Amino acid sequence: MLSSAELSAGLNTEKIGKRIIHFTETDSTNTQALLLARGGAAEGTVVLAERQTAGRGRMDRTWHSPPGAGIYLSVILTPRVSPSRLPGITLVAAVAGAESLKESTRVSVDIKWPNDLLLNGRKICGILTELHSREDGSPIVIVGIGINVNTPRDMFPEDIANTASSIMIETGREASRKDIVSSLLGHFERWYRIYTEGGFAVILDRWKAYSGIIGRRIRVEQEGARTEGTVLDIDISGALIIHDDAGLRHSICSGDIVYV
Ligand code: BTN
Repeated sequence: MLSSAELSAGLNTEKIGKRIIHFTETDSTNTQALLLARGGAAEGTVVLAERQTAGRGRMDRTWHSPPGAGIYLSVILTPRVSPSRLPGITLVAAVAGAESLKESTRVSVDIKWPNDLLLNGRKICGILTELHSREDGSPIVIVGIGINVNTPRDMFPEDIANTASSIMIETGREASRKDIVSSLLGHFERWYRIYTEGGFAVILDRWKAYSGIIGRRIRVEQEGARTEGTVLDIDISGALIIHDDAGLRHSICSGDIVYV
């Protein structure tokens, strides 16, 4: 089991992870992080759990969170940026995730829009960014990150068994959750600072390099509607700009994509 003291000892950050709250079990680290933020917890506070009983993903999905096998953590952020820039924080988390996995486990992941990390084409990490506000209107952003580290194949539910995987399954060896968390929080701090200082173009470039999506043909599935086309770009809010076969431009802010 990870311990806060052990994690803090290996950290070299100024803000992110300066306080780590560690649960053996909780409903969802995003839920707990929001409660702490509303109670005045400082920016950079991290909530980590060995197991979640109600881990959630994007689009009302469940995030399967078996004990000790993965990393389930949430970071509290209170950025002072314009509201239109808030969705960009998800890209910060995806880039930090990709770089930290490379550093700590030597794997090369791809980013799949909007925020999945894939290893050998299978999802090993998901990011759930939730935006809230305080009574005075200032934002609270909770960035939840789930990484399947040492999850064995038979621990995945049937409906995701073909699309999800873990670092252990893909590499054939166990990885250190502690090393990944330390590296992740370090990279997160660096990229979040770049973000708050207005360096979004650098983040976007790095995100594009990990995603390889520009110029690819995709199908977007959104609440029953389907759009097919070629990706022209991704904008500063993280929306995909696609060109469909009728020559129309679409800006896609949410949904799932399939490469076609
Ligand atoms: C997705 O791919 O749909 C996003 C999954 C995000 C899962 C993480 S695990 C830690 C944090 N707490 C949650 O309840 N969800 C996020």
